[in-house]
This record gives sequence, C-alpha cells and structure tokens, in this order.
Amino acid sequence: MLQDKITQYTAEINAFTTQNADELEQFRIKFLGTKGIIKDIFDEFKAVSPEEKRTLGKVLNEFKQLAEAKYQTLKDGSTEAESSKDSDTDLTLPGEGFEIGARHPLALVRREMVEIFSKLGFIVAEGPEIEDDWHNFSALNFPEEHPARDMQDTFFIKKGGETGDIALRTHTSSVQVRMMEAGKPPFRAIMPGRVYRNEAISARAHCFFHQVEGLYVDENVSFADLKQTLFYFVQELYGAGTQVRFRPSYFPFTEPSAEMDISCTICKGAGCGMCKHSGWVEILGCGMVDPNVLENCGIDSKKYSGFAFGMGIERIANLKYEIKDLRLFSENDARFLKQYKTSLI
Ligand code: DAH
Repeated sequence: MLQDKITQYTAEINAFTTQNADELEQFRIKFLGTKGIIKDIFDEFKAVSPEEKRTLGKVLNEFKQLAEAKYQTLKDGSTEAESSKDSDTDLTLPGEGFEIGARHPLALVRREMVEIFSKLGFIVAEGPEIEDDWHNFSALNFPEEHPARDMQDTFFIKKGGETGDIALRTHTSSVQVRMMEAGKPPFRAIMPGRVYRNEAISARAHCFFHQVEGLYVDENVSFADLKQTLFYFVQELYGAGTQVRFRPSYFPFTEPSAEMDISCTICKGAGCGMCKHSGWVEILGCGMVDPNVLENCGIDSKKYSGFAFGMGIERIANLKYEIKDLRLFSENDARFLKQYKTSLI
C-alpha cells in the first residue's frame, strides 16, 4: 500500500519540471510542506509492521531525498532564469570598456625633450619650487637692484630673515646652482620644472609655467658646443632642416648671452601669424656660464667653463601643437586633453 504510493509519487517527482517560481512553490508545499505528502507518508509509516519497516525505511528516506533534491535543483535553475529574465541586459552585447586617459601635452613635450638630451648624455636633475634668494638670484649674479627681484615679478613667501628672502622660484636656473654646489664638474644635466611669476593670467601670460634648464660644465667647453647641442636638439624635436639663429642678449648669469630663434615651425619661414610674418620664432635663452656664477658655486672658473640654456615648455608645446592660449594647459578641460592620446604609456 505505502510502497505503491511511493512508487506513484516517485514517478510524479521524476516527471516534474518547471521554470516558474509559483509552480515550484506549489511543488514544495505538496511534497515537502508541513502538511505535505512526505509528512503523511512518514505518519503512515509509523503504523506498519516491524518487518515492513525494515524494507520500507530505506525506500522512504530515498524518496524524501529525491523530493528535496528535485526542489533544490529547480530552485537554483529558476533563480538564474528569473534573474536573467528580469534584467533587460543583452548578455551578448560588447562591454562598455574603459576610456584610456591621455598624457598632458606638457608631459609629452617634457618627455621628448628629456629623451633627446639623454642621447647627448644629459641627465635629469630637479630642485625645490620654494627657493631662497641665494639660489634664485644672488648666486646667479643678479645685481641687488635687478628688476626680476621686484615684487611685481616674484611671489615672495617671506621677506628678510636669516636665509634672506624666500620665494617661489621664478626660473629653473636655481637648480643649476644647487647642482654645482652639491657636486664636482663635469656637469651635464637638464632640469625641468614649474616656475612662478607674479603676472596677470591671460592667453599669453600665466602665474605659473614650466621650464627646462640645461647646464654643461667641463674643461674647455665652448660656445661652439652650445650651438651644436642646441642645433641637434632642434633637429630632433622639430625635424631635420629646421634653421637656427642666435641673437646677442643679456642675462646676469651668462656671458656672452644669446637668444635662439628657429625657423617658424608652422610656415617653415614663409611668414605667418605664429611668427608675426618674420619667419622666425624665439625659443630659448642661453650663454656661457658667467665665471662669477661658477665661483659662487665653488667651481674654479680658470679650469672650468660651461654653457647654460633655459626654455619654456609651454612655448615648445605651443609651436608643436599650435596651442595658442596658455590657460588651456592648466584648466584641465577633458575635451582639450583628450586630443593628445598617445600610444606611449
Ligand atoms: N632663466 C631664464 C629665464 O627664466 C632663462 C635662461 C636664459 C636660462 C639663459 C639660462 C640661460 O640658463 O643661459 O628667462
């Protein structure tokens, strides 16, 4: 009697299948519920004879396990089916992916400059952005009354005191001094970094910008070495055939001093808005390190000579990418920055 019931229900359980949560719940109540079939069968089992109990006990347990296993399998399957049915996501669509960031144009130019000079044996050196008067001005041979020391150009942090004025460095030439004070010649380094000037912000001027300083000090360094080094740099950066010209100039820390122009990178010398129709654009200041500067840094100016140069990274980037408004470099407008995606990581 009981055996027949079990056989019949076993067939029913084996045949049962559903992906519907409600139907599955009906199944659970029918077989596994507190008033369900299994409960009834176990109640009936209590009344059977001891001999029957022996054979039926095992059958009964297997039957119960079958019902539970069926329920569990269908439940796992139906939750998966339900959840994928609930979301509208098409799992075969391609993923959204991550947008790859871009290098800042100034970082790209800086890196290119570092790479070019490294081929000539120049290492990279850095110094602090907060400087004292000695490193930013005095050691570099600036006269006491030099206008660059004026409040209008320099952001002073502290006036006077034991170490003299403390200010945000106005140029990276201060790093030359630190390098020469700390070591022994020969020196061959470029020094990239941020500099600050007390200027009203406009398309053409900013209160901070970036420079790369260069220094080469050894025995018998001449102006010809300076010219050849900078000529090579320009050919590498702007392409073979770029012309250079040197104009006499003045800087307190170099003697003689010059400014270097290159043939306009936009019109190749024909004349355009970028070069104000002259065919030439100025890119840097340079010269032979003034013997006073060498001596200020503890270097024998009779034995050693050197050249130095300094240029604005924004200016170089401007000529490379035609970025005319300086403010773009620091506004972090993603639409602007995105344009400079590069395969270089
Ligand atoms: N320090 C100068 C400036 O900020 C740039 C400069 C000119 C650096 C001539 C040099 C140099 O090393 O020799 O305008």
